[in-house]
Amino acid sequence: MTVSLPQSLVLLGAGKMGGAMLEGWLRIGMDPAGISLVDPHPSDEIVALAQEKGMALNPDAERIAPPDVLVLATKPQMLDTAAPAVQAFIHPKTLLISILAGKTLANLAARLPTANAIIRAMPNLPAAVQRGVTAAAPGPGVTAAQRALADALLGSIGRVEWLDDEGLIDAVTAVSGSGPAYVFHLVECLAAAGAAAGLPPAIAERLARATVEGAGEMLFQSPLPPATLRQNVTSPGGTTAAALDVLMADDGLKPLMVAAVSAAKRRAGELSG
Ligand SMILES: NC(=O)c1ccc[n+]([C@@H]2O[C@H](COP(=O)([O-])OP(=O)(O)OC[C@H]3O[C@@H](n4cnc5c(N)ncnc54)[C@H](OP(=O)(O)O)[C@@H]3O)[C@@H](O)[C@H]2O)c1
Repeated sequence: MTVSLPQSLVLLGAGKMGGAMLEGWLRIGMDPAGISLVDPHPSDEIVALAQEKGMALNPDAERIAPPDVLVLATKPQMLDTAAPAVQAFIHPKTLLISILAGKTLANLAARLPTANAIIRAMPNLPAAVQRGVTAAAPGPGVTAAQRALADALLGSIGRVEWLDDEGLIDAVTAVSGSGPAYVFHLVECLAAAGAAAGLPPAIAERLARATVEGAGEMLFQSPLPPATLRQNVTSPGGTTAAALDVLMADDGLKPLMVAAVSAAKRRAGELSG
C-alpha cells in the first residue's frame, strides 16, 4: 500500500511530542524541505536537526508555501497565545491536526475560524520510541485524502485508532493517554511485592521491569488476545494460577482498574473545553 505524505507541513510546538512526531515523519520519508518548524524557544537538538536537514525554523508565514498540514503541538494552555500564529499558516486547503489535550473540535474551530478541516488527536508517551498509540477524531470538513495524510503522519509514531465520535476522547485519554503511567506503577508494585517476598530490592526491580518489557514485546509481536497469552502460561494448580486467583477475584485488579480509568475519564472531562 502506498502511503500518502504531505508535500508541505508546519509543526507548531517542537517539544517532546512534536519532536517525537518530527522524527517519525523523517523516518517514513517526508521531504525535510517541505517541513517548517515554529517554536519560540527550540531546543539545541531541534536547531541542529533543522540545520542538518534543511528544515525552515520559525519562517514568516507569508514566505512559505501554504501548507497541506499544520500540526499543533504546543501545551494546551498556549492555544490563545499561539492562535494568531496558527491562523497565519492556515489556508483553505490546510488540514489542522491538533494534539492539544482537552481542546475539543468545537473549541479549536471557534479559535481558528479559517480552518476548514480539523482532526483532534490524542497520542501517548511511547510515541517517543515509535510505539505510541494515537486516537484521532476527524471534524466535519476533513476529506478522505486528508484523513489518509493524517493516518500516515500519526502512524509514523505507532498505531492509529480512528474514532467516529469525538466524545470518546476522554475515555481514550483515561486508557491509552494516561495508561503508560499505570504500567510503570505496575512495575513498582511488582518490585515491591518481590522485595516483600524476600528479594533484594534492586534485583526485584530489575526482574519486575524486565518482565513487563518482555510481556509488552510479546503483546507487540503476537496476534493472540491477551487472555490467551495469559492462559498459555497458566498451568492448572500452578504458581501463576495461585497469583491469578488473587488478581482475578471479585475485588481484584479489574474493579481497581475500572475505578482508576473512571477517575481519569472524569478528570479529562473536567479539564476539557
Ligand atoms: N507528552 C505526552 O505524552 C502527550 C500525550 C498526549 C498529548 N500531548 C499533548 O501534546 C502537546 C505537547 O506536549 P509536550 O509534552 O510535547 O509539551 P512540550 O514538550 O512543552 O512542548 C510544547 C512546545 O511548544 C512550544 N511553544 C510554546 N508556545 C508556543 C507558541 N506560541 N508557538 C509555537 N510553539 C510554542 C514550547 O516551547 P517552550 O518550552 O519554550 O514553552 C515547547 O517546545 C500538549 O498539548 C499535550 O496535551 C502530550
